[in-house]
Formats: sequence, C-alpha cells, structure tokens
Amino acid sequence: MSGTIWARCPAKVNLSLKVVGRRPDGYHELETVFQAIELWDDLEAAPAPALTLSCDEPTAPGDDSNLVLRAARALRSRFPEPARGAALRLRKRIPVGGGLGGGSSDAAGTLLLLSRLWELPTTVADLASLAREIGADVAFFLHGGRALGTGRGDRIEPLRSLGPFPILLGCPPFAVSTARTFGSLAARLTLPAAGVSVGEFPALKWREENDFRYTGNDLECVVFAEHPELGAFRGALLGEGARLARMSGSGSTVFGVFGAEESLAEARAALGPRFPGWRLIATRATDAGAHVVGTASGAGRTGD
Ligand code: C5P
Repeated sequence: MSGTIWARCPAKVNLSLKVVGRRPDGYHELETVFQAIELWDDLEAAPAPALTLSCDEPTAPGDDSNLVLRAARALRSRFPEPARGAALRLRKRIPVGGGLGGGSSDAAGTLLLLSRLWELPTTVADLASLAREIGADVAFFLHGGRALGTGRGDRIEPLRSLGPFPILLGCPPFAVSTARTFGSLAARLTLPAAGVSVGEFPALKWREENDFRYTGNDLECVVFAEHPELGAFRGALLGEGARLARMSGSGSTVFGVFGAEESLAEARAALGPRFPGWRLIATRATDAGAHVVGTASGAGRTGD
C-alpha cells in the first residue's frame, strides 16, 4: 500500500467491573462489561523507512511506553521480514489516564492500520494474541460495541447491542494510575463485594434484566477514598437524573447513562458550574471498535 491510511479508535466505559480475584502473574481476574463510545482518537500511518510517532497531546507518552509504538513493534517482530517502517500521527481526543481506554484503543487501531499498510497476512487470532501481549484492554477494541471481558479483561465475548444510548462523561482535571489502583486494592485484606446500591435497582429496569450483568465497579471504593470528589460527582449525576452512574475502569472518569439526550443536556448544564475544571463530554454508545477508514485525504474522512 503506497498512500497514507487512517484509523478511528473509540473510547470505552466499563458499564460494570467486578474484581473476582488475584492471579499468580500479579494481575487481577475481572468480569467487566465494556461499552465502546462515540469519542475517537484518529491515527494516520504513512509509508516511511523507520517507525516514528508524532502526537498532538503533550501528556501522552511519546517514547516507547506509548502503546502505539509497542503495538507497532510487536506486530513487526511477529512479521520481521522485510524490515518495515511507518510514520504514525496520533490525534488525541480521549483524555489520557481517564479509564476510557484511549491508549489501548490506539494500540488496537495500530495493529489494524499497520496490518493493512504493510499488507500482512494477519489472522484474527494473530491480532487477538498480539493485543493481549500489549495490554489487558486492547483485545476489546478489536471488537468494540458491548462485550463481556473476563480473565485480565482480555477474554472477549461480544454482547447484544443496546443501541446508541446517551452517556455523559465527567473527566476531572487529574489522571489515576491503573497499576496503583489495583495495587491499593490488593493491599486490602478482602476483595470488596460487587457493590450494588439500592438507588441503582430502578435503573436496571430500563433495559432487560441483567443487561449490565453486575452492577457497580469494585475499584470505586479505592479511588473514591483517595478522591472523594469522584464519589460526589457520581452522586450528583444520579441526583440529576442519570439512570446509572459509575466510575469507568480504574478512573478518573465518572459517567452517567441517561434515558434521553435532553435529560443529559440538562444534567450537563447543571453540573458544569458545580464541578469547575472538569470536562463534561456528551457522548453515546457505539457498536464500532477500532477500524481502518481509508485514505487520510480521501472520502473516508468526511464519510464516517
Ligand atoms: O494491562 P495494562 O497495562 O492496562 O494494566 C496496567 C496495570 O494494571 C497492570 O500492570 C496491573 O498492575 C494492573 N491490572 C491488574 N489486573 C488487570 C488489569 C490491570 O492488576 N486485570
């Protein structure tokens, strides 16, 4: 392939996250329901002799710890001949360190994009095993939509779409470290229970029973203890009519699911002044995952 091509990489929220136990490899065993959302990073790849990455977001790592470069290197070492390069350009819209999976989604996009650019004979199984090597959330973004994640969160089972339901993201002006959060959880003597709150039972009735499998996010207790404003935002979302409100992944984003776009807009207007410095992003669920769109300068950019 000779021209520049482009991928779209969505964010996710965890509609629920249950920590089931600790694994011998230090990771935690999870049961989580992922939902891809309409908030996208854009990734471009052009043929080049070496592998390089430029990114418009200064807080995203530009070195080898960036999951885009890790994904590109992992793919290249799986298919080493002939030596290949690419000039990658990442445009970030997904907040970094927010529990929205942006880096993992960018990594999944990289695998798909470079497989196309380098015309590799990658199979679905190749991509899934590379994704697991790179990070626990990467495999989900090869599917997108709504899916159950087990194991480290990397064994993916697609779930029925619930349609494009409205979601309000509250992104505080700080990030939370995933490794640190899991570390604090492990330091507790017992793992917390699933954390069903009475206030959320009516919310579950708005869809078929058990659509969210487990209610709650077991990491909230650790993160909310350190950052009480996240718990306050969650309560404020419920007070403003969210049918379900919780932290995404290991935070720092807290989101609310609303029954209609109008009630979301009202909640956003009410919460903005109460949480200065927070970014409130109106979005909705999508059935898509990371995907290659086409040439960066062609019709694909406007058509999607
Ligand atoms: O896989 P990823 O790099 O996103 O995970 C970051 C860190 O979060 C891991 O190094 C680990 O400490 C923790 N983690 C965990 N159990 C999981 C996922 C992540 O303990 N299922």
